[in-house]
Amino acid sequence: MDKLVWDTFQQLPGIVEDHKLFCEQGKLIQRPTREQLADWSESSPPEQGRSLENVVKDTEEILSYRFSIGHPRFFSFVPSPASPLSWLGDALTTAFNIYAGSSESGAGIGAIEDSIIRWVAERFGMPPSAGGQFVSGASIACLTALTVARDQLVEEDMRTKAVAYLSDQTHFCVAKALRITGLLERQIRTVPCNANFQMDPDHLRNAIAQDIKDGLKPYVIVATCGTTSTGSIDPLDTIADISKEHKMWMHVDAAYGGSVAFCESHRELLQGLGRADSIAWDPHKWLFQTLGCSVVLFREKSHPTKSFAAGAHFLRDLEDGGSQNPYNYGIELSRPARHMRLWFSLQILGTDMVDRMISRGFELAGLVESELRKLADWEIVTPNTLAVLNVRFNPKGMKADDIDRINSLVSKEAAAQNIAVAFTTCIHGAVCLRMCTINPRTTDDDIRDVIKALDQNARCV
Ligand SMILES: Cc1ncc(COP(=O)(O)O)c(C=O)c1O
Repeated sequence: MDKLVWDTFQQLPGIVEDHKLFCEQGKLIQRPTREQLADWSESSPPEQGRSLENVVKDTEEILSYRFSIGHPRFFSFVPSPASPLSWLGDALTTAFNIYAGSSESGAGIGAIEDSIIRWVAERFGMPPSAGGQFVSGASIACLTALTVARDQLVEEDMRTKAVAYLSDQTHFCVAKALRITGLLERQIRTVPCNANFQMDPDHLRNAIAQDIKDGLKPYVIVATCGTTSTGSIDPLDTIADISKEHKMWMHVDAAYGGSVAFCESHRELLQGLGRADSIAWDPHKWLFQTLGCSVVLFREKSHPTKSFAAGAHFLRDLEDGGSQNPYNYGIELSRPARHMRLWFSLQILGTDMVDRMISRGFELAGLVESELRKLADWEIVTPNTLAVLNVRFNPKGMKADDIDRINSLVSKEAAAQNIAVAFTTCIHGAVCLRMCTINPRTTDDDIRDVIKALDQNARCV
């Protein structure tokens, strides 16, 4: 069997080539038929094993039905334009199947994880006391951080009085995490945003003052650096001042925007990020990594141990690594070495190239804006902030409902004709096309062709 596995492994380059995985030029969206889906979802494992060759064929087919999120014309959600280097680093790491739950079981990867965490914390402006670890995504990073925030600041008998503050633009994973940590809906305040989709500090101050007056315990403010809808950044310095004044915890969801710290020309946008007590950041978004690569950082490396430190007789030989074992600092025990793909990519690309790859995203968004401004009837609803913009075909004199319908159709048609994926979102109740342009493989011609096609389609429907 091992020989057969090895022979099959050698076929991988052909499979990658057939599916154009390195250039992502195929179909933007590939969906199976209903019958096909039903077949798969109702299937059970066979009693007798099948041939490797047939199973590889089936696997290829199953994987081929997907949103091609690395395609240069896939502009929706936060596309994940993973570098093939991330894929290669991850495949190599997986082959070794190293246990990253303790420091002893993979001494090399442990040291590398420490070095990346130190480098990221420093780029984010955190002090040398900072620490953290890699997790699977920002949802888990936020859950980890908000558990620590609760345990650092809320006594057990005060838990029913604890109050958390987020904005109406905060990603839903934050409220989810707060509920998992035990908060009820009535303990979560949603602070309104200003016209630029940033948390309004005056509303925040008033909400905190009212809660203190009511005998409650404000303990955490969650700011966002790169909101999902518009890419807006909350006023981080002001929020840090407010949280300091009230001895609260400041968590920043920098899942998307944190990557700008690695781009010299734009990093000043993150002013104040380093003052946070904890930060969630996703390299699997704008640092070109395959999915499942995220980071949670703490201003004080030791803070998570109050929440997570554990010990067991069956782990006594692993305790030689001392309290540095990752399972004392986070939720997981068994974990893969998620950071190795990032280390691998950074070693080969170098930080100068990564800087250029990130700044290209800003350039492309600027091009979308300038091309649309040349055309009649298009509105830039939210401008190029962190390489995300929302646009709308909005001819004068047409009813709002009809305009919404046209924009929805334009988005659907663009995907159906394999021109581009620019899904819709609602901004102030109006349907817009949301475009996130962080794929460095997207060319200027891609942008010009897509804008031309969107405009033509909008005028035809
Ligand atoms: C701002 C922001 N926060 C959190 C998340 C959740 O991240 P993940 O999907 O890695 O759990 C996302 C995902 O799109 C996001 O855009």
